[in-house]
Amino acid sequence: MAPVNAAIIYYSATGTVHALAQAAAEGAEKAGANVRLRKVAETAPREAIDANPGWGRHLESTTGVTEAGLEDLDWADVVLFGTPSRFGNPASQLRAFIDTTGPLWFQGKLSDKVYSAFTASNTAHGGQESTILALGNTFYHWGGVIVPPGYTDPVQFKSGNPYGTSHVAGDGSPGEVALEAARYQARRAVDIAAALKAGRAA
Ligand SMILES: Cc1cc2nc3c(=O)[nH]c(=O)nc-3n(C[C@H](O)[C@H](O)[C@H](O)COP(=O)(O)O)c2cc1C
Repeated sequence: MAPVNAAIIYYSATGTVHALAQAAAEGAEKAGANVRLRKVAETAPREAIDANPGWGRHLESTTGVTEAGLEDLDWADVVLFGTPSRFGNPASQLRAFIDTTGPLWFQGKLSDKVYSAFTASNTAHGGQESTILALGNTFYHWGGVIVPPGYTDPVQFKSGNPYGTSHVAGDGSPGEVALEAARYQARRAVDIAAALKAGRAA
């Protein structure tokens, strides 16, 4: 059977979610998937970016990451979305990309894929679960197969978020537990997508 195609599509202003996305890409590769790591386009005005040196630095350091396009969603069997929390919701940059998916959705091309999501916020109770659940609303509309990590691996008892990998950015960059949780989440999503693909081919 052909390998599963996995797209990791994320937005990150200051690098936290980018680190989780890279770990997710590693996990998906290790699980045998073809992987595309894609950032969504930055939509914030230059003045806003320049007001936060960490934002500008991250933007410059990721110029080499390809921007997500609708063809990445079309190609993928499994999609993991990553976003920082913005007042308990996904970042507008990721929403802007999602809001371009109407044509694919209309053709039924977003259904039956595996979807999963990860996030970061500055504080421990700053909206990580609500951000992931908000992305879930879109997955329902697409007719997706939502695959959360749950407590299905020992790392989940350390990282502690069954909805999806999350990191408290106020504590610094993601450490090994968060990175391993992201690798695990991607591995699990790819494994389930592979089982679905095999079942459909049978
Ligand atoms: C407009 C805005 C709203 C935010 N809202 C919250 C919030 O409600 N709770 C919280 O803990 N962090 C909040 N944050 C902090 C971000 O979630 C945090 O900086 C981000 O997760 C870091 O990820 P990144 O490095 O990938 O950009 C907010 C940041 C911005 C710019």
